[in-house]
Amino acid sequence: MTKPSPIKYLISIILSCLICMLTFPGCIGAGAPAARTVGIAMPTKNLERFVRDGEFLKTQFEAAGYNVEIRYSNDDSGQQNNDVEYMIADRVDLLIICAVDGVTLSQTLKTAEEYGIPVVAYDRLIMNSSAVDCYISFDNYTVGKLQGEFMAKALGMDERNDPARLEFIAGDPADNNAPYFFRGAYDALEPYLDSGKCKVLSGKTAFTQCATQDWSTDKAYESMQNLLASYYVGGESLDGVLCSNDSVALGVSRAIDSDYNGKAPVITGQDGDIINLRNIVDGRQTMTVFKNVNDEAEAALEVSKAILQGETIGSNLLSVIDASAAFDDTSYYNGKKYVSSFLLDPTVITKDNLDELVDTGMYRWDNDHRYLVAQDR
Ligand code: BGC
Repeated sequence: MTKPSPIKYLISIILSCLICMLTFPGCIGAGAPAARTVGIAMPTKNLERFVRDGEFLKTQFEAAGYNVEIRYSNDDSGQQNNDVEYMIADRVDLLIICAVDGVTLSQTLKTAEEYGIPVVAYDRLIMNSSAVDCYISFDNYTVGKLQGEFMAKALGMDERNDPARLEFIAGDPADNNAPYFFRGAYDALEPYLDSGKCKVLSGKTAFTQCATQDWSTDKAYESMQNLLASYYVGGESLDGVLCSNDSVALGVSRAIDSDYNGKAPVITGQDGDIINLRNIVDGRQTMTVFKNVNDEAEAALEVSKAILQGETIGSNLLSVIDASAAFDDTSYYNGKKYVSSFLLDPTVITKDNLDELVDTGMYRWDNDHRYLVAQDR
């Protein structure tokens, strides 16, 4: 075989390069960056909202060119620790974690920090860890405040002479959000509790007395049954149940259906789960606080992109988040640091403004235009 002359060899190399540049224009310049991988740890598939969160996060990150490794931890903090460890072992480029338990991840996250893997706390703040780069959520205190204000208005607490009777059913004590929701609601109702315009016959007005492990519908059902059996027999009326979210509201409405004969109490909720929206139409729940998780996922994407590109994480990013949100770096202290937080705005939904949910593109009316169903994705 004859060897090509040096000139011919050079020409053939230049030609090959030209062909390559025309065929793969993205290769021109510093070389194509390998797709980054984002590890997403969601708490559970048992709660409708986290299934939605998981789907939106996955779809949006993939559409933006990232690889996604997603794990659901069955509401088990031990399993979530393992899930996060696996993703660290896989050397994901960034972690997005919605913690089952706000305080049990700190040891695992030390490893993430050692490997330089940034961490975004999604929806729930992760405590006792300096590894957390930022927090994306809704304004949790405001969620509770909206519920409390709604309750006060719905029960006419400013005008009434006889006290309104109310009970609280709160969220999971391991979820860092749950006390914020409770506190927001309690603060809105406190003036009426102080003035006697509102009474809690059970006397359970501390978060720990009203908490519901795992936000479980069944446990909320039992708690409500016990309250009804202990304090609302013999004609004692119950006017309202301040429920922190839809999964506990569902248990409460079931207990009211089965064990209470009086006028339906006002029941609050949060999330806009399909079955609860149905109950709102049927008068078995009164309101829910809707948090658009598509927006929350989009905010997580924008902030993650900025972190991976080494940009400053601050109010500058509000301009690229396509939803109403606030930046706060002075309120969310996780025991190690004030975590830079992006907090989106929640919306009150009743039977009168269900169309606002349709406008989000996440729900549609059923064929009879009676109930909302999930929009196919
Ligand atoms: C979320 C709520 C949800 C609750 C139970 C909270 O951390 O913020 O939207 O209802 O967990 O899933």
